[in-house]
Amino acid sequence: MKILVTGGAGFIGSNFIRYMLKQHPDYKIINLDKLTYAGNLENLKEVEDNPNYSFVKGDICNDKAVEGICEKGIDAIINFAAETHVDRSITDPQAFIKTDIFGAQTLLEAVNKYKIKKYIQVSTDEVYGSINDGSFKETDFLDPSSPYSASKAGADLLVLAYKRTFDTPVIITRCSNNYGPSQYPEKLIPLFTTNAMEDKELPIYGKGENVRDWIYVEDHCSAIDSILHKGEIGEIYNVGADQEKTNLEVTEAILKAVDKPKSLIKFVKDRPGHDLRYAIDSSKLQKLGWKPKYDFEKGMELTVEWYQKNEDWWRKIKSGEYLKYYKKQYGRR
Ligand code: NAD
Ligand code: DAU
Repeated sequence: MKILVTGGAGFIGSNFIRYMLKQHPDYKIINLDKLTYAGNLENLKEVEDNPNYSFVKGDICNDKAVEGICEKGIDAIINFAAETHVDRSITDPQAFIKTDIFGAQTLLEAVNKYKIKKYIQVSTDEVYGSINDGSFKETDFLDPSSPYSASKAGADLLVLAYKRTFDTPVIITRCSNNYGPSQYPEKLIPLFTTNAMEDKELPIYGKGENVRDWIYVEDHCSAIDSILHKGEIGEIYNVGADQEKTNLEVTEAILKAVDKPKSLIKFVKDRPGHDLRYAIDSSKLQKLGWKPKYDFEKGMELTVEWYQKNEDWWRKIKSGEYLKYYKKQYGRR
């Protein structure tokens, strides 16, 4: 199978490429990534010499870049490429609308033009909005709260409309909060883990009562692998691990793991439009035979260990050195 992975230099995309090349050594993977601040080719060092892996620097909004790959023959596209950080979507919404919606539409056009057999849109549980009790099913309506989740919801609707109008072979996945190796240190777990290691404050928004369902990134990768092979065209699959924690619980687990005092916690002004709780029902996906392998305790042990062993990776990002290097190497703005 020949797969176009977009956004493969980011956190989940790079974990997915490494995972897939191990699981399916005969598959070919082409990674199309714009290398925004979040894209990092160091995440792919392990596979860069693998003859079944290749990298193309390009924007999913650029139809020529996308078509240049698709015209050579692709069996499936898995779209990870997106602007992904909720806080950034509050200060710069436009970048999210461009990549997350227009980018998806550009890929859908290529799927139609080159008759690609499968398009997987990697979406998020945030499209459902917040839920006080129970959990969302795939049939629930969308009620996004941030420009990020609204952009992802917009893309989901477009993907479903392409199915209905053009019979485009699409599948949507909606996963909960991922954590694990090589997550950019702007998201809660890597930010707080590395801040604690540096004896810096951990800024908890509001009272730290917000709840997220945490999934170890490898479990998300195995879910997409299952969906790629066994998922039904036109369907949506929630991907969750049933590991709900408040942000305060997550923070305390991090401090314990790195042996730092609770005095590093600082309660700060809340995020505008901050969703209180995310929860999804993944039973539809489990019927395909998938189940998560890691509980929160094991996943956190592996994650903290990774950040402890890879200080060079995150220190370069946090000090700005990494951006300077990539600007020189790849001519980024
Ligand atoms: P990330 O921010 O770590 O990586 C995004 C990648 O996309 C980067 O490599 C970046 O360079 C690339 N990119 C951005 N704009 C692009 C463009 N226009 N063209 C080509 N490449 C572009 O993101 P992530 O956390 O790995 O998330 C990957 C996907 O999974 C996203 O679609 C996100 O919405 C979804 N998702 C993330 C989570 C999570 O907890 N992180 C949970 C559910 C779903
Ligand atoms: O639910 C899936 C989503 O999870 C993905 O679609 C997004 O791409 C991903 O960024 C993530 O969104 P969140 O907003 O839930 O993740 P984040 O790590 O930014 O925040 C997790 C929780 O921690 C949230 O309630 C806000 C809080 N938080 C976050 C940061 C960065 C803090 O209290 N302080 C912080 O400094």
